[in-house]
Amino acid sequence: MRIAVLASGSGTNLQTLIDQIHRDPTIDIQIAVVISDNPQAYALTRARESDIPTEVILTEDYADRVQFDEAIAEQIERYRCELIVLAGYMKVFQPPFVRRYRYRIMNIHPALLPAFPGAHGVRDALEYGVKVSGVTIHFVDEGVDTGPIIMQAAVPVMPDDDETSLHARIQVHEHRLYPKAVELYAAGKIKIEGQRVRILDDDTTS
Ligand code: GRF
Repeated sequence: MRIAVLASGSGTNLQTLIDQIHRDPTIDIQIAVVISDNPQAYALTRARESDIPTEVILTEDYADRVQFDEAIAEQIERYRCELIVLAGYMKVFQPPFVRRYRYRIMNIHPALLPAFPGAHGVRDALEYGVKVSGVTIHFVDEGVDTGPIIMQAAVPVMPDDDETSLHARIQVHEHRLYPKAVELYAAGKIKIEGQRVRILDDDTTS
């Protein structure tokens, strides 16, 4: 299966997808393109170092966000990708893009959804004072971080945590789970039943 990874930042999740999936000849999944809205994203460097094509698409080059999304869709089609994997991609898709790729866009979020959606999930959970937070992998729907949940894993929040230390603890699980979720999808082992997702493989859930 050919996948597109969209990233706006450092790309540690992209790196685990490269290392655990793309570079493994026994797994028939290729990262066909890495797309970013941020020309400075270190994710682009990671892709280039692994000889993965990159595309930079800037919001300011388009009249509105629907047309911006359409430019991304053109690249998804050009590289013949069947799954879109968001790995720290910081833009929200407009409804036409979501409808076109329903259940073909996966996102990873650094909190236990539906708690603490949005761009600052780690900070918001910490400020709220929760004792447990974690990671959520979900399909993207028309809302912000509201789509069907594929996998979650919990981590404790320690009394002396700051945003950096809590995020680091969460990322250990992100890097463990995201490649698994992509592999399960490619293997046809993820079934969506309304808002609920069933994984047809007992030993690979979180
Ligand atoms: C991750 O924590 C992910 O949950 C969130 O953005 C962050 C991206 O991290 N959506 P990285 O760029 O993969 O290191």
